[in-house]
Amino acid sequence: MLAEILEKGRALTDEALERLLPAATQYPASIHQAMRHSVFAGGKRLRPILCLEAARMIATLLPPGVEQLGAALEMLHTYSLIHDDLPALDNDDLRRGRPTCHKVFGDAIAILAGDGLQTYAYEVLARIPCPAEARVRVIEEIAHATGTVDGMIGGQVMDLEAEHKKPDAQTLEYIHKSKTAALITASVVTGGLYAGANPSDVAHLRCFGQKIGLAFQIADDILDVTQSSEQLGKTAGKDTAAEKATYPALYGIQESERRAAELVDAGCAQLDPFGERATTLKELARFLVERKK
Ligand code: IPE
Ligand code: IPE
Ligand code: MG
Ligand code: MG
Ligand code: MG
Repeated sequence: MLAEILEKGRALTDEALERLLPAATQYPASIHQAMRHSVFAGGKRLRPILCLEAARMIATLLPPGVEQLGAALEMLHTYSLIHDDLPALDNDDLRRGRPTCHKVFGDAIAILAGDGLQTYAYEVLARIPCPAEARVRVIEEIAHATGTVDGMIGGQVMDLEAEHKKPDAQTLEYIHKSKTAALITASVVTGGLYAGANPSDVAHLRCFGQKIGLAFQIADDILDVTQSSEQLGKTAGKDTAAEKATYPALYGIQESERRAAELVDAGCAQLDPFGERATTLKELARFLVERKK
């Protein structure tokens, strides 16, 4: 059942994060408190869960140690959220139902907490217990996906530069694919690589990730318009206020929902060669666009 997959994946990820992150008392304590404040604020852990389920699909059973890879992905995602919320970027006060990192610890420590989570993620990745060749490919995949060329940072740059103007369809798609779909794609691809996926498996996982990753950000844009801050645990209505380039702004809610659903269908079709083994990943893909937070 999907609820059980989500809950078990979240618990496994949280245990790994707890074990792997420096203790809150570790000197210098302020930075470790700030990192933990944002990591343990109650995220959905969807990237680690997608990674675990991609690995399970390829290896049939959950490969031991893959939760360390999931934890590293979550550290990178949380770093991106801390920086996304900074006054110089989206200037948000609320994240995961808590005051944002910079609201509690100040801008300087929040910037450094994001940096700290990023470098720590690679320390963890360097030690993930899979064959060395797969480990190097995992690291390259994730570094590229979070980088400036079609990756998360590149997407964030264009997201900021597209504020206050009507986006063209191509720029909007670039922003969403880069800022969000790239890391989601890397999550399923690296789960597969960890589990020994062959090049054809990786190609199917990559195509699946790109489509559901874009659908995920379209859903995020829709939720910003349709849900309350209380429901989301982050400030609702911010995209309209900041005149962000979003799918609802360009296409309206209904057409955005239609596009997200279509992307999920197309993504799931990429997993047909895996037969029954793809059931959980397909269920997760539907959840990504049907979620209410
Ligand atoms: C929010 O991601 C930021 C985006 C890339 C849209 P999530 O919706 O996965 O946030 P958490 O991790 O559950 O807080
Ligand atoms: C953030 O996109 C994407 C990241 C890389 C963090 P948003 O700015 O839409 O994310 P939220 O809505 O603040 O979570
Ligand atoms: Mg943003
Ligand atoms: Mg934001
Ligand atoms: Mg958003």
